[in-house]
Amino acid sequence: MNKKEILNVGQIGCGAFAEGQDFRNLNAHPQVNLKWACDISSERAQTMASKFGVPNVTSNFMDVLNDPEIDMIKISTSHSVHLPIIRAAAERGIHIFCEKPMALDETEAFEIITAVRKNRVKMCVDMNRRVAPAMLALQKQFLAHRAAPRHQPWRYIENGRPRLTEDSFAHLLISIQDEGMSYRMTHLDPRNGGGEIMGEAVHWLDLVCALFAPARPVRITGMGSPRLSHSIRLEFDNGDDALLVFSTVGTFDYPKETYELTCEGALFRSCFFVENQYYGVPGLDKEYFPLQHDCMKERIASDGIDAYMQKAALRVQGLRNSKEGYGDLTVDKGHYNMLDFFVRSILEDSPSPCDEIAGYLAVYLARKAIESICLGQTLHLSPADVCPAFT
Ligand SMILES: NC(=O)c1ccc[n+]([C@@H]2O[C@H](COP(=O)([O-])OP(=O)(O)OC[C@H]3O[C@@H](n4cnc5c(N)ncnc54)[C@H](O)[C@@H]3O)[C@@H](O)[C@H]2O)c1
Repeated sequence: MNKKEILNVGQIGCGAFAEGQDFRNLNAHPQVNLKWACDISSERAQTMASKFGVPNVTSNFMDVLNDPEIDMIKISTSHSVHLPIIRAAAERGIHIFCEKPMALDETEAFEIITAVRKNRVKMCVDMNRRVAPAMLALQKQFLAHRAAPRHQPWRYIENGRPRLTEDSFAHLLISIQDEGMSYRMTHLDPRNGGGEIMGEAVHWLDLVCALFAPARPVRITGMGSPRLSHSIRLEFDNGDDALLVFSTVGTFDYPKETYELTCEGALFRSCFFVENQYYGVPGLDKEYFPLQHDCMKERIASDGIDAYMQKAALRVQGLRNSKEGYGDLTVDKGHYNMLDFFVRSILEDSPSPCDEIAGYLAVYLARKAIESICLGQTLHLSPADVCPAFT
């Protein structure tokens, strides 16, 4: 039998995220043939199908799954319907690319893992930050430095001081500011969206685990609100830790995310996926990353965080003055990479870039962070929960 080179794909859920990312990425991928647009709102499914040239439209996801040509689905529905869609897809041997969070609790996550493994299909959860070009570059520089630290010739070192255990720990500070008044109530409803820790902080819980792997999380401390602004500290068995500070009372007019990782006398900083700055490592220059969609390319040719800020300011001006709206200015958070890596993992039968176990772990950590906030306590994470035994 010939090896498959193109995957037939069905998009299930045609809301805001599907319009901004999925349809464009699926259409842009050379090894994807987008066959279906499905949404419980037939009108929405039809509008998206017309906009993106998708040949088949339905309001019933079973129509997509019963198409014998379908190889893979992308799920971008509300969180609460992932399980029934995944179960039915897995039973038909269809590979599953699902939006985060994979599930709303551990029981649902276990059922998903069982369905996927029993039917030997591949699963990918779109916790895209771990494969954003800027994050992959930051991880590469961090790991290289940790393996063989190099220091500036002018670094002050107290020669007589013994090296202490904590001198080898890495610390990551993730600072997020977001405009929470734009969140719909369904995203904050615990039965549908799960709130901001479950719906959004899973991104960073996953990123931290991917960045510090193979170290395993051992303690979690949550503070603040379980559904809006909060902080989470996650500690690892090798002494590394991460602190997420997430404010939902910020503004879309300013970059949402900054990452600062310190380790072995160096600082690795990523400014909103457009510029990485490195300090303390001889010869390591800053790196720039192209935007995913750049409506200001013709007006401002340069890259980096300052150029991004200028472009964002011009776009805000344009939005204010133009009744027709303005083009997209989107930083590359790794959505296309995640699709591309997953398509390749299906075609080459290699591991998924973010599999069902990663999906489970992020859900488990989010639940523990919420529990920690509610109890006002640091919680210990048992290895049996962090790495459960699955057959
Ligand atoms: N990875 C990221 O960075 C990122 C960013 C934004 C949103 N998301 C995720 O994308 C998903 C969708 O978010 P959104 O903002 O587009 O929400 P949305 O409410 O705009 O869209 C969800 C769509 O799913 C449809 N839907 C619900 N149940 C369905 C079903 N059973 N069958 C078919 N369609 C169904 C709804 O009618 C709606 O059109 C969520 O999981 C969200 O967490 C991910």
